[in-house]
Amino acid sequence: MRTFRNLLVTGGAGFIGSNFIRHVFEKTDFAGRIVNYDALTYAGNAESLADVAATFGGRYVFLHADIRDAAAVREALDRYEIDAIVHFAAESHVDRSIVAPDDFVQTNIVGTFNLLQAARERGAALSLFHHVSTDEVFGSLGPTGFFSETTPYAPHSPYSASKASSDHLVRAFHDTYGLPVTITNCSNNYGPFQVPEKLIPLMVLNALEGRPLPVYGEGLNVRDWLHVEDHCTAIWTVMARAESGSTYCVGGRNERTNIDVVTRICALVDRLAPPLPSGAPRESLITHVADRLGHDRRYAIDCSKLEGDFGWTQAYTAENGFEQTVRWYLENPKWVDSVRTGDYRRWIERNYAKRG
Ligand code: NAD
Ligand code: TYD
Repeated sequence: MRTFRNLLVTGGAGFIGSNFIRHVFEKTDFAGRIVNYDALTYAGNAESLADVAATFGGRYVFLHADIRDAAAVREALDRYEIDAIVHFAAESHVDRSIVAPDDFVQTNIVGTFNLLQAARERGAALSLFHHVSTDEVFGSLGPTGFFSETTPYAPHSPYSASKASSDHLVRAFHDTYGLPVTITNCSNNYGPFQVPEKLIPLMVLNALEGRPLPVYGEGLNVRDWLHVEDHCTAIWTVMARAESGSTYCVGGRNERTNIDVVTRICALVDRLAPPLPSGAPRESLITHVADRLGHDRRYAIDCSKLEGDFGWTQAYTAENGFEQTVRWYLENPKWVDSVRTGDYRRWIERNYAKRG
């Protein structure tokens, strides 16, 4: 069982990173310090951890810094005597990677490389580099079968190609230099604090506000949805217990077509929020729009290695997880306003304009 003193969490102001930091402070026996290293791009929001900063101030440090800056990474590791890194920081949205892949290469590949180099320079002081990755590195499934730890890499989008590249670098630093690493490849997450450019929060807010619900193509692409809190328990378990050099696939055992997800969200918003002025059910807002370029058809994870080795299992079901998430967005308009500004707003406006 590994224990840690000073954790560096990259991308801790983002969706999964902020949930992870809260989870570690509130739900584990971790007694050390967390340094949240985040560049605060459009996807990063210090508001997401305001409660954590207030409650755990003595053990929580926010560092406004960029992983593309190799010197800043090195300085942070030395200054805070970091013994473990949990690497979430990334450009994470497939649609953005199609329009502007440059940042994906710089942050996801070069940024990961900078971290690995700095981690290696810490020598024996570093006990673990945990890399958070995605199932999208495996490409797309047909109607049957699952991704597992032995599935060959076959990424299609600039996002998944950049994540695949970072996974390979992490593995190479383990195999070549003996850097202690673990990797998790997880399916689609949902839950509180997700930027409303991703399917679920975008649909919740558009449904609430009576705006069109843009479903790509026929809406028959399949994703395997996992609550973010379940992803956090999986990461913490792997960090504490997995062998160095190992990879674990993390999934929800919760495959759904996009149209099924959107229809469920509509029903939940109808039940939990005031009706639309027209009285129409939210489902009537569904609008089929042009399909995403190179849209992967189906993702599904076989997580039996994680279940078998450590007894990990999902705590949330789709029913209670989706409802908890919809309620959270309805109850947190201040947080929603704080992310729907600047670069985020420009992106949404440009996207809607393009679709006419
Ligand atoms: P996110 O986009 O919500 O957050 C990314 C965070 O990284 C933000 O806080 C942003 O400010 C920060 N960041 C971006 N570029 C940076 C840079 N150059 N330097 C420092 N910080 C930077 O992403 P997320 O959905 O929380 O995903 C986190 C990680 O999990 C990513 O590596 C992603 O590939 C992986 N992942 C995500 C999902 C999912 O469904 N969201 C599923 C599997 C794996
Ligand atoms: P997304 O949340 O962007 O995650 P990913 O592309 O990483 O799986 O998209 C989830 C699915 O929803 C994907 O098949 C694309 C689809 N989608 C829509 O149909 N409409 C949208 O507006 C968005 C953002 C996604």
